[in-house]
Amino acid sequence: MGHVLALAMQKGGVGKTTTTLSLGTSLTERGRRVLLIDLDPQANLTQGLSIDPAELEYSVYEVLLNPEKGTAFATLTTAVGVDLIPSSLELAGAELELAGKVGRELLLRKALRETRQRYDYILIDPPPSLGIFSLNALAACDAVLVPMQLHAYALKAMPQLEQTIALVQEINPTLAIGGIVCTLADRRTNLSGQIEQQVREQYGTLVFETVIPMNVKLAEAPMVGLPISRYAPQSAGALAYAALADELETRYGR
Ligand SMILES: Nc1ncnc2c1ncn2[C@@H]1O[C@H](COP(=O)(O)OP(=O)(O)OP(=O)(O)O)[C@@H](O)[C@H]1O
Ligand SMILES: [Mg+2]
Repeated sequence: MGHVLALAMQKGGVGKTTTTLSLGTSLTERGRRVLLIDLDPQANLTQGLSIDPAELEYSVYEVLLNPEKGTAFATLTTAVGVDLIPSSLELAGAELELAGKVGRELLLRKALRETRQRYDYILIDPPPSLGIFSLNALAACDAVLVPMQLHAYALKAMPQLEQTIALVQEINPTLAIGGIVCTLADRRTNLSGQIEQQVREQYGTLVFETVIPMNVKLAEAPMVGLPISRYAPQSAGALAYAALADELETRYGR
C-alpha cells in the first residue's frame, strides 16, 4: 500500500506546490511510483508540469463528483514520469456544488481506495484556504507534510493546523503530522537559522534535517514547465529536494 501524504498549511505561498512537485519527481527518479494530485483551483501544480488546465477532458473535479469511479480515468502520465490528477478551471465551482453532498469531506478518500495499491507515494497539493478541498486532502491522507517558511512568524500558524488536524481526526483517526520541512531559508541572514533552531526545539525529530533554501531556480522551473531536477539539476534547490526525497525514503521506506 502506498503512502498518502498531503501538504498542509493554511497559508499561501509557503512552498506546498513546489514541495509536492520537486519531491514527487525526485521520488520518481529513485524508481518509486508516484501520483500527484492537484486539489487547488489555481492549478499551479498542473501548470508546473506543463499541462494546460483549460484543455483537459477530466480532472480532479470529475473524481470528486464521481468517487465510486476511482481515479484512473482522470490520471495523466507526464513526461517526467510522475502521474498526475490535474486540476481544472471547473474546480473553483465545485466548492458550492459539493456543499450539500453527504460525506463531502470523504470523496477523495473514497476515490483513492483502489488507487493506493498502485503507487508507492501519493502526494496531495491543496489550496491555502481551509475549505472542502483541504478537508478532502486531510481526510484522504495518512500523514501531513508541513512546509515551514523560515520567517519571524513561522511557528504562529502551527496551532491552527494542529487544531484542524484534531478536527479531521474525527473522520480520519490516525491522521498525524508526518514531517516538517523548513523552506525558503535565507542564508544571508541569521534570522532563518534562529527560526530553524526554534522549530527544531519545539518539534524535534518531526523536522526533516534537510532545509530547502531560497533559490530562484525553484521559482523559475514551473514557469518553463519543468521539475527542478531537469531545469537546474545542480542548483541548491534541486540538491535540497533530492536530499529530502532520500530522508522521506528513510522514514517511509518501502
Ligand atoms: N525555496 C524556494 N526558493 C525560491 N522560491 C520559491 C521556493 N519555494 C517556493 N518558491 C516560490 O514561491 C512561490 C510560492 O511557492 P508555492 O507555490 O510552492 O507555495 P504554495 O504554498 O503552494 O502557495 P499557495 O498556497 O498559493 O498554493 C512560488 O512562486 C514558488 O515558485
Ligand atoms: Mg500551491
